[in-house]
Amino acid sequence: MDLKDQIIPDRLPRHIAIIMDGNGRWAEEKGQDRLYGHFHGVESVRNIVEGCAELGIEYLTLYAFSTENWDRPVTEVTGLMELLVETIRKEVPILNKNNIRLHVIGALDMLPEYAHNALQEALQLTSQNTGLNLVMALSYSSRWELVEAVRKVAMDVKAGKLDPAAINQDLLSQYLATSEFPDPELMIRTSGEYRISNFLLYQLAYAELYFTSTRWPDFRKENLYEAIVDFQKRERRFGKTTQQIKQETAEHLP
Ligand code: IPE
Ligand code: IPE
Ligand code: MG
Repeated sequence: MDLKDQIIPDRLPRHIAIIMDGNGRWAEEKGQDRLYGHFHGVESVRNIVEGCAELGIEYLTLYAFSTENWDRPVTEVTGLMELLVETIRKEVPILNKNNIRLHVIGALDMLPEYAHNALQEALQLTSQNTGLNLVMALSYSSRWELVEAVRKVAMDVKAGKLDPAAINQDLLSQYLATSEFPDPELMIRTSGEYRISNFLLYQLAYAELYFTSTRWPDFRKENLYEAIVDFQKRERRFGKTTQQIKQETAEHLP
């Protein structure tokens, strides 16, 4: 049976998050410049966004550039920024055609002005779309996000708008950059690294993690289907016992 046919449509993750890793090594293995890898990574982004939209996934978060990635060599950072702007300009009509809404999370004030402007334009131009929500994590890191959230909470408390006794998990979620999105149920990392690298630390608390050795520029819809099929085979217990989960599932059956 085709991999796609193995996917159970009513048990799709609502939100998939991906650490798109391995562009540099993919290129170096071919004797090419690292930027060549980033360039080819864009093709994978296109393919996976399309794959998610076809399946009816509601949210797809892509880790495109971390706060720590600013420390890479200037040529690579500049090349990535230019690629970002060029890709956004090219893709907006396709996003609109496919009813995909773009969102961005991250420290956007660190981006060069031309990149910042191109992003704002794309956000605005796709803001009416109601299909897949494509969230780009750009200049993003989870610790940056948590520090920002704490600062905003402190400011609201100081201004008398928030009672410290009212702070709970839901309220804290509202102060994160992801406040509009549900937590990811499935997190995929390509390229054989088994780490989170400062990505959505709070939001991934109960996500299923899927690691593959495939480098990002080689990652295609088939690989995505494989990850979803694997996800659907797992039992998500949220701290409970298997027996409790089976009982709950039975109670929810029509
Ligand atoms: C992921 O690929 C893309 C970014 C971090 C921008 P890398 O550039 O990290 O590629 P590797 O991990 O060095 O192979
Ligand atoms: C994580 O990849 C960030 C992105 C994919 C954008 P890195 O390549 O920066 O992570 P480390 O350095 O291997 O942990
Ligand atoms: Mg990497």
